[in-house]
Amino acid sequence: MSSTDVFLAGADAYNNKFDAEQYLKDCYQLDQDVVGKDSKNWMVKWLTQIHKVFAKGNLKGKKLLELGAGPCIYATISASKHYDEIVTSDYVKGNREQLTKWRNNDHDCFDWNPHIQIVCDLEGNGETAEERAKTLRERIVDVAFCDALKDPMLPSRNGEKYDAIVAFGVVEEVAPDRNSWLQILACIVKYLNPGGVLLLGNSLGSTFYRRGASNNRAFACYKTDRDEVISTLEILGTTILYESMLDLPGDGYFNDRTDKMFVVAQK
Ligand SMILES: C[S@@+](CC[C@H](N)C(=O)[O-])C[C@H]1O[C@@H](n2cnc3c(N)ncnc32)[C@H](O)[C@@H]1O
Repeated sequence: MSSTDVFLAGADAYNNKFDAEQYLKDCYQLDQDVVGKDSKNWMVKWLTQIHKVFAKGNLKGKKLLELGAGPCIYATISASKHYDEIVTSDYVKGNREQLTKWRNNDHDCFDWNPHIQIVCDLEGNGETAEERAKTLRERIVDVAFCDALKDPMLPSRNGEKYDAIVAFGVVEEVAPDRNSWLQILACIVKYLNPGGVLLLGNSLGSTFYRRGASNNRAFACYKTDRDEVISTLEILGTTILYESMLDLPGDGYFNDRTDKMFVVAQK
């Protein structure tokens, strides 16, 4: 953070200052080195981890929720073979608009085919990105409003429960303090069916990130570490099935995380 930066936190800051198109450019455009780093390498690491846990074959079910998806679909590419219905969600309207555009295959939607191709290559079945995109589009049954700081988090879904909940880059990023952070995790566990799994992508050691934020602004994060995440999930009654560090520290400008952690836990 520089001394001129404005720190943003809370739901209204997101509604007013989170720019979905900028976020996609900052984080997910693989053909362009927008952040001065190897963004493809970043994405390959992430998608490989997600692929690995689904390749074991024991994560499957009917309904999956992605909480705080942003304008992104990458998190459910692997899962789309294992869950029949996917509800994707975000707080910010501009993000939901991007998700809807992609689901409708609008001519100006973001191109996720390079990311989908990475997953198809990892699976090695010869499936094309276009074929897999079709499956994923068919399985996305809803693009819903969510507020992770409220219970129910998805007011339009009538308190339904899920066989899996995915939350990548959301819990620390949305929580203004420890109480809210605990509340979000407890709510995720509450809305899992017994035996259901949660998949978290936690930003460890982060106090801010600025991707998707306009000039001189950054979003505040709750600063946590590996032990706090794991012990909290255990206290909430889940069993850790998988955990891994991604070796993706922040660059100090876009964010100050020490690493990104991927955790899968079962209720
Ligand atoms: C760092 S982005 C992560 C987006 C995406 N999951 C990814 O992996 O790139 C944080 C996301 O949290 C969303 N968000 C902000 N406030 C929220 C809230 N109260 N409830 C749920 N999501 C929220 C933002 O709109 C944004 O999409």
